[in-house]
Amino acid sequence: SGSRSQKEEKEPPGPKPVPLLGNLLTLDLKRPFDTFFELSKTYGNIFQVFLGPRKTVVLVGYKTVKEALVNYAEEFGDRKIEPGFRIMNDEHGILFSNGENWREMRRFALSNLRDFGMGKRGSEEKIIEEIQFLKGEFDKFEGKPFDTTQPVNYAVSNIISAIVYGSRFEYTDPRFTDMVDRANENVRVLGSASMMLYNIFPWLGPFLNSKRIAVRNALRNRAEMTKLFTGLLETLNPLDRRGFVDSFLIRKQNDEQSCKEDSYFHDENLIVTVGNLFSAGTDTTGTTLRWGLMLMAKYPHIQDRVYEEIDRVIGGRKPVVEDRKKLPYTDAVIHEIQRLANIVPMSLPHKTSCDVHFNGYFIKKGTTVVPLLTSVLKDPSEWEKPNSFYPEHFLDEKGQFVKRDAFMPFSAGRRVCLGESLARMELFLFFTSVLQSFRFTTPPGVSVDDLDLKGIVGITLNPSPHKLCAIRRS
Ligand code: HEM
Repeated sequence: SGSRSQKEEKEPPGPKPVPLLGNLLTLDLKRPFDTFFELSKTYGNIFQVFLGPRKTVVLVGYKTVKEALVNYAEEFGDRKIEPGFRIMNDEHGILFSNGENWREMRRFALSNLRDFGMGKRGSEEKIIEEIQFLKGEFDKFEGKPFDTTQPVNYAVSNIISAIVYGSRFEYTDPRFTDMVDRANENVRVLGSASMMLYNIFPWLGPFLNSKRIAVRNALRNRAEMTKLFTGLLETLNPLDRRGFVDSFLIRKQNDEQSCKEDSYFHDENLIVTVGNLFSAGTDTTGTTLRWGLMLMAKYPHIQDRVYEEIDRVIGGRKPVVEDRKKLPYTDAVIHEIQRLANIVPMSLPHKTSCDVHFNGYFIKKGTTVVPLLTSVLKDPSEWEKPNSFYPEHFLDEKGQFVKRDAFMPFSAGRRVCLGESLARMELFLFFTSVLQSFRFTTPPGVSVDDLDLKGIVGITLNPSPHKLCAIRRS
């Protein structure tokens, strides 16, 4: 009917923009996701805001986000490639590419990560080995306060390094530690308020320190990766692939030999794809683990219950993936850490791949779309205590683990996190293993109330700077 199609042509509602700046002045640029969540109370679960002259559609709450990303997977499944992300990626790799390039790289990465152990025994062994090194680092502080960032990031990064390069690195190897530290800095810089301004007004670039840092880091990463690839190429053996890079190099040689035109397996995709796996695979998992350790220090009675369960079910032997089923409380705590830590609050920006009619609204092809994951993980109609640390969200009355639909930290649909199964295995093994051996506390004189739940913002939401003590359990 006429009235229906008229209604469907309506654009989503939203606050009135002013010229040039749009709605920028009403946004908390340091925590735009909080402002978006607030705005949804006035404008509903689908609304639009103007970031400068550019229209952005925000999707809010479990039902809306899931319907868009899963039921309209194609329509909402393209990536919006911001100027800040172009610096390192151009339009190559997986994270910030679209179309055939994205499809080929994503498919190749998934099948090869599986071959090199993602979600299988192979990576379980790598993780268990790495945990011993991480515990060794914790021991070096002898119970004195320290910042968990570097040891945790190095340990986590070594898992993806082993899968990609075929071997782990020593925590004292500057090639490796510089790469991890740069990845960490990039996540902070690329998600900063000033980078957001750069994305909206790229002509600001020459004046912005954040842009300068991102360019410098991209150049150094390229140089370092190129050296590592050259070393692997010189010792390449098609019958004994060490990791993802070997597979890629072999595929590249095959495509060259068969004169395959427009092959996607070229150096640019190798550099960007490996860079993507390294950065997406390090900071996310590392940040989640650090939230976990901090939350355990903040809520010692919950830490006690986790320890009690590990002690009773596993005793002194090394935890393995199989143990998860027998550790419902610990599993619930890990899920609750991911829910509350909410480390990718706005997911990564999507873009409509065509004109879309969605829930009575019209959204034009190419519009930026923000799936507001924070509003899913803290959706008041899905969670009993959305803003508290409450592991019971994932437990039934009998203390058994229950899955929750609105648990969506990895996003959903076509762009769902490619490393989800690896990340879940890492979180479980790292978390249970370190809690089995250490008790985490605030430093002497620091109250648990000083550990704040807000965090600081980059692309991922990090715990505010803090120190913890890791005390050996007797
Ligand atoms: C994408 C979360 C670990 C590789 C994403 C996205 C989220 C996410 C929210 C964006 C999805 C979207 O666009 O809607 C997480 C969390 C992790 C984690 C919370 C750990 C706790 C990992 C690991 C890897 C990885 C370990 C490495 C193997 C990727 C890649 C993409 C991605 C390659 C891009 C997918 C695409 O654009 O097609 N992740 N991730 N992630 N993640 Fe993860």
